[in-house]
Amino acid sequence: MSPDTAAKFAETRKLFPHTAHSVYFNSASYGPFSTPLKEAVESNIAIRVDCREDDSHDAFSTSEALRADYASLIGAEQHQVGIGLNTTHGLNVAMFGLPMQPGDEVLISDVEFPALYYVARAAAETRGVTIKQIKSVDRRTTVEAIEQAIGPKTRMLAISWVQFFDGYKNDLAELAALCRKHNLYFVVDGIQGMGVEPVDVVKLGLDVFSSGCQKWMLSPQGCGFFYIADKVFDSIKPPFMSWLGVDWGMNFSDLFYFDKPYFKAARKFEIGYYAVLNLMGMKASVEIFKELGIANIQQHNHALIDKLTAYLNDHPFYTVTSSLEEKHRSSILTFTCKDYALLQKRLVRSGIVLVHREGSIRASIHLFNDDSDIERLIGELDTFADEQ
Ligand SMILES: Cc1ncc(COP(=O)(O)O)c(C=O)c1O
Repeated sequence: MSPDTAAKFAETRKLFPHTAHSVYFNSASYGPFSTPLKEAVESNIAIRVDCREDDSHDAFSTSEALRADYASLIGAEQHQVGIGLNTTHGLNVAMFGLPMQPGDEVLISDVEFPALYYVARAAAETRGVTIKQIKSVDRRTTVEAIEQAIGPKTRMLAISWVQFFDGYKNDLAELAALCRKHNLYFVVDGIQGMGVEPVDVVKLGLDVFSSGCQKWMLSPQGCGFFYIADKVFDSIKPPFMSWLGVDWGMNFSDLFYFDKPYFKAARKFEIGYYAVLNLMGMKASVEIFKELGIANIQQHNHALIDKLTAYLNDHPFYTVTSSLEEKHRSSILTFTCKDYALLQKRLVRSGIVLVHREGSIRASIHLFNDDSDIERLIGELDTFADEQ
């Protein structure tokens, strides 16, 4: 990384007030708020408290800008992106909207975060599709296992880009090729990779990609976005509709029109008026990602993880449980030890915020972290191991 880029990361760290007292390794749960986010939300609250102007158009211009921003971060075009409420929003569009017949199969990993599973379960109950769970191997959903699970009735593969519990990054290129070969819809829950791993959804040929922004995108809770490929757009039956799914040409003074055409864009699948405070927060946050660049963020995070991994691999008390393979690693590193739950409690008490998931401590490393955070964690890990 060039000294200029490294300096940008150091400057960006200053935008996160928590870094003055805590080490935050928990962006895979929720991202911390930056000062620009706080100011953007507060200034919108001030406008609404003051009520001297009609600010309702700000939501439309901000959402439009956000669609373009998110599109640019994932290699898509603005019309292919809609603002969502969370990850689940876009997953519903895919699971209830894409053409499938009763008896068609949806493939889902047996180590999947429940978000995908429960949406699919509801689709199974109401549309008559069948969920087929892919048998993982050592808690990894291998390409071979997926291919074995594909049968004549399989219509969709729905999977997390990055697994929430150990950070295993599924190879979207390989999976997309598999979906092409077997003519399957490819639906991706992107939340655990969004903002920290580069992705090019159009080039990859994904059908639907959906991500909340409350984690790695460092935005308010209850917001996200989704991508819908042009090739499936026309065939999606809206699972829900909204008066803002049609084009009013920004004229909201005369509303007795009931023949407006739907947007020919992903925003057709947005739902009603916006969570405007969230939009303002999202906009402030996305600027950070545009400024740093996701490839740089990935490089930054992986370098910090390398430092932590070098320590853990050297220490007989700790075992790394994440994949370290280049194509499968992410910004989540997990490791375990005897009494890992006690260790997690100790770490939180000492000001190092992280969680344990499925038997391992989960460290989520992000753009505001630096070497001093890793060193502080290593210091605590040394102390804990010595005491055992
Ligand atoms: C892989 C994955 N998908 C989805 C979610 C959350 O879904 P939503 O944004 O809809 O709440 C999480 C974490 O909470 C997750 O780890």
